[in-house]
Amino acid sequence: MDYQVVVLAAGQGRRMGTGGNKVLLDLAGDPVIIHTLRVFETDPSCTGIVLVIRKDEREQFLNLIEGYHLKKVRKFVEGGKERQESVRYGLAAIETDQKSTVLIHDGARPFVTRQGITRVAEAAAEYGAALLAVPVKDTIKEATHFSVKRTLERKSLWAAQTPQAFRLSVIRRAHQESVETHFVGTDDASLVEQMGVPVKIVEGSYRNIKLTTPEDLVIAQIFLEREEE
Ligand code: CTP
Ligand code: MG
Repeated sequence: MDYQVVVLAAGQGRRMGTGGNKVLLDLAGDPVIIHTLRVFETDPSCTGIVLVIRKDEREQFLNLIEGYHLKKVRKFVEGGKERQESVRYGLAAIETDQKSTVLIHDGARPFVTRQGITRVAEAAAEYGAALLAVPVKDTIKEATHFSVKRTLERKSLWAAQTPQAFRLSVIRRAHQESVETHFVGTDDASLVEQMGVPVKIVEGSYRNIKLTTPEDLVIAQIFLEREEE
């Protein structure tokens, strides 16, 4: 199942608190973004990568991609203020027919696997929209001002991950409509849901974490050390 992927790397990494873009942090000798991109670079089904970056970091990313000989990164696109905007710009740079499959992936998720990619890409080709997700482990409370409104039923809750995969026409339309309606979602599937289009869940892995806060880096180091054993 051939696909192209938009990889997002235009964030600020505020919650990581290191004062810089977290995807450039070192993880066992290589920057986080390199770990992520390698998974796509080595996947024969990946026909091209669009990398979304910040303007002031362009030089740094260009040098990295060249230095690590990543041949599939065909385009560097300037990101936006919000993730959703970054995705929209990335999608605009994809050049294939509207029926082809496009994946959207956070640069800050280096533990994505070939198996996860393949399964979500196949589901998108069949259903139009799909995402990797894992069953929620915690009990989730809905609250306002530290006062519980209700407890959600855990059985029906999934934690969304990336990659999320779509037929190109579907996700482009979803992003266009969200511009018109000023809808802001925290992931791409939610934009598709807004249109009333069903989104398929593909059960992923708890290892596919997003590096968000400092403790995620500690966990990531342990995952990589284990892989070397
Ligand atoms: N991202 C992006 N453009 C933005 C914001 C985020 O391309 N305007 C990317 C990040 O680089 C990251 C992914 O989207 O790979 C997921 O976002 P998140 O975890 O929120 O990363 P940051 O926005 O960098 O972190 P924070 O929210 O803590 O500042
Ligand atoms: Mg963010």
